[in-house]
Amino acid sequence: MKACDSAAPGAAAAWVVRFAGLVAPEGSVLDLACGGGRHLRLFRDRGHPVTGVDRDLGGVADLTGAPGVELIRADLEDGSPWPLAGRRFAGIVVTNYLHRPLFGPLIDALAPGGVLLYETFAAGNERFGKPSNPAFLLHPGELAEAVRGHLQVVAFEQGVTARPRPAVVQRLAAVAADGPVALDG
Ligand SMILES: C[S@@+](CC[C@H](N)C(=O)[O-])C[C@H]1O[C@@H](n2cnc3c(N)ncnc32)[C@H](O)[C@@H]1O
Repeated sequence: MKACDSAAPGAAAAWVVRFAGLVAPEGSVLDLACGGGRHLRLFRDRGHPVTGVDRDLGGVADLTGAPGVELIRADLEDGSPWPLAGRRFAGIVVTNYLHRPLFGPLIDALAPGGVLLYETFAAGNERFGKPSNPAFLLHPGELAEAVRGHLQVVAFEQGVTARPRPAVVQRLAAVAADGPVALDG
């Protein structure tokens, strides 16, 4: 994903903050394509052991060796094996990143009761700027479709947002649960 690799740490996404409480207390959290680590830091500060994966760990260099923080440098798209084979997480966060072949491994990497929080750009975003390459833009309903039959969708949104900048996004909160999900976290 070349278009908008701005990894400067910004504020945690409101969507991730809203549903962070669904993740089991002290459960391990994976921040995939973590960039500057805004969600790694959010969950670490909430008392979770965190794992950040990115091909460029420059944005989280300050967290190297910090207690409860695991950083993995990996290219998720060059055909090398999934860097977290056999690992399971209580929470997985993916924001402003899309590589469709990872939908399956991400679902498999959820522990029972595990929570997937995903927010990234969708079709129509090209009128606001980058990313504009369809390879990096979700089709309408795609995130919900990708987890159908595997995870329980707790919340799904898609549309135009003005925050933190005008964009077309899709947002998903889904849980690896059979029964009803406790919404109050
Ligand atoms: C737009 S940034 C988003 C960072 C973070 N998730 C956030 O929302 O603040 C996209 C991130 O994806 C990472 N990335 C892009 N292609 C990658 C690849 N092939 N393998 C691993 N990470 C990649 C970039 O290094 C960058 O940190």
